[in-house]
Amino acid sequence: MNTVYSIADARAYVRQARSEGKKVAFVPTMGNLHAGHLSLVHKARESADIVIVSIYVNPLQFGSNENIESYPRTLAQDQEQLKGENVDLLFAPSSREIYPQGMEHHSSVAVEHLSHLHCGKSRPGHFTGVATIVCKLFNIVQPDVAVFGIKDFQQLAVIRKMVEDLYIPIDIVGAEIARDEHGLALSSRNGYLTEQELEIAPNLYQILQEAKELILQGTSYDRVLRDAFAKLAQSGLKPDYIDICCQHSLQPASQDDKELVILAAAYLGRARLIDNVTLTLP
Ligand code: PAJ
Repeated sequence: MNTVYSIADARAYVRQARSEGKKVAFVPTMGNLHAGHLSLVHKARESADIVIVSIYVNPLQFGSNENIESYPRTLAQDQEQLKGENVDLLFAPSSREIYPQGMEHHSSVAVEHLSHLHCGKSRPGHFTGVATIVCKLFNIVQPDVAVFGIKDFQQLAVIRKMVEDLYIPIDIVGAEIARDEHGLALSSRNGYLTEQELEIAPNLYQILQEAKELILQGTSYDRVLRDAFAKLAQSGLKPDYIDICCQHSLQPASQDDKELVILAAAYLGRARLIDNVTLTLP
């Protein structure tokens, strides 16, 4: 596996691959890789000849109250894992490479319609930061396919909308949520949890599954949400939000919507956990 740090080297690599008629899949990450990231790499491999992963902790998507300095950076370890997965190229740029003139007057990509909902309420600007960096990375790598985790359901929706609205010629593929043996969705942020908090954290998924069962039994959405919110708080989590939405619009589900997603976020110690479950009504 090659690691490149500059845009020019990444582009040269892709140009060569394309001239050989190869199909390119891309997996953008912020590093500190775990089995969830690696499942995206597997998925990428299914649909392409060349798999490119990026590792870049993007300051533009962190709020001023979020400590980007403490985000875990484990490049050497990540490189070993990616080599083990036969990844072809790792692109690991610096901020000087990505924002050579700083971020202050930088152009941005705003997927307004979806960005102010759910996680966007407590993380203003976050999804504009995500859409902007993903658009930049897409323009650098120019892949045929890009793979994102369904774990970040709203992020995936924002990227799908950006690609659709701006005619970006890349197929977006969603990958299932990888969980630990207790059901906790894997996340680089789980590293912030203490042993005691790790026992509380799986309640988030448990409560989402219970909410899904209640919906399937016909309980009203209001009642389900009230119960779930209370259960989250009782379990030791500090709920940020829990919403029952249409999978496509991310708006609160109406009686006509059949393909639903229950989205939730909760604080636990130093971490903010997110998770979701999808369901289809008969
Ligand atoms: P990061 O949190 O590193 O996640 C990179 C990719 O891995 C995302 O598509 C995310 O949804 C996916 N992922 C994380 N945990 C997962 C899990 N448990 N199961 C399945 N997939 C999982 O998301 C980002 O980085 C950034 O916002 C990024 C898109 C790279 C832009 O900076």
